[in-house]
Amino acid sequence: MALAAGFCDVSLDATAVTVNGVKTFKTVAAMQRTALGWRQAGLRIGFVPTMGFLHDGHMSLVREARRRVGATGRVVLSIYVNPTQFAPTEDLAKYPRDLKRDYALCREEGVDAVFLPSDAAMYPGKAGGLYSTYVVEERLTQGMEGVSRPTHFRGVTTVVAKLFNCVLPDVAVFGAKDWQQAAVIRRMSTDLNFPLKVIVAPTRREPDGLAMSSRNTYLGPEERSQALVLSESIAACRRAVAKGPAPAADLKKAVARLVKTRPAARLDYVEFFHPETLEPTREVRRGTQMALAVFVGKTRLIDNGRL
Ligand code: PAF
Repeated sequence: MALAAGFCDVSLDATAVTVNGVKTFKTVAAMQRTALGWRQAGLRIGFVPTMGFLHDGHMSLVREARRRVGATGRVVLSIYVNPTQFAPTEDLAKYPRDLKRDYALCREEGVDAVFLPSDAAMYPGKAGGLYSTYVVEERLTQGMEGVSRPTHFRGVTTVVAKLFNCVLPDVAVFGAKDWQQAAVIRRMSTDLNFPLKVIVAPTRREPDGLAMSSRNTYLGPEERSQALVLSESIAACRRAVAKGPAPAADLKKAVARLVKTRPAARLDYVEFFHPETLEPTREVRRGTQMALAVFVGKTRLIDNGRL
């Protein structure tokens, strides 16, 4: 990263604008200069990348970032709906947005700064066809989400690498709901020598078990109740393996049967795998990781858990 001399001054916070009471950086240069200044002043930076439409799941990641960097550290949350991780058939155009609410939550939770870049800032030259650099993880992306959404992880690893270069965090916090994403990002960070720690924080759930997700807002009331089949599938598998190891094939059939009992739901995939290597397993036991993706109406939801 080429930064001109003289950029490393904490006072360069002045490049921020304040939106609804929260310091906001809209350009890559302003974010980088300030982050560099913080680092040079010995302040630790905790980072929570998001696509906005924040909920308590995101806020729990902010709390974890704060815990990691302490009261004197800086917690940065980015809000950027990243176009390159959506296929043309997916929900980029209608992805939910509510910046006013996002800012209220950030202020309440004591986020020090929001990074709110534009598409032009994140993908310079893309509109003119010039942008041509992507980051690809080739192993952990092969199964599950990588099969159902073949271009998704290339977009995720590219944008997260770019966000890391903008925010320069010491720690970055991701949610366990997107278990495969977190594993891919951790791998990418190691492989590309990013000097930071990737933390995976537990999934936050609604009181009835539904994993918190911005996409839950798409669900009508009947779909919302049928969406519980995801967490119920995990609970059913957890009960099954509590009695002893079980063949993955049997559990997959049982999950498929359970999902079929909800007319609005259609199983995309269910997988049982090693939590770190993501290697699928034939025999499922306590400690195996489980993930599933289910369409509920037109909304695709994912969930996972340690059995
Ligand atoms: O999990 C998400 O919200 C996104 O995939 C992320 C990590 C912010 C990258 O756009």
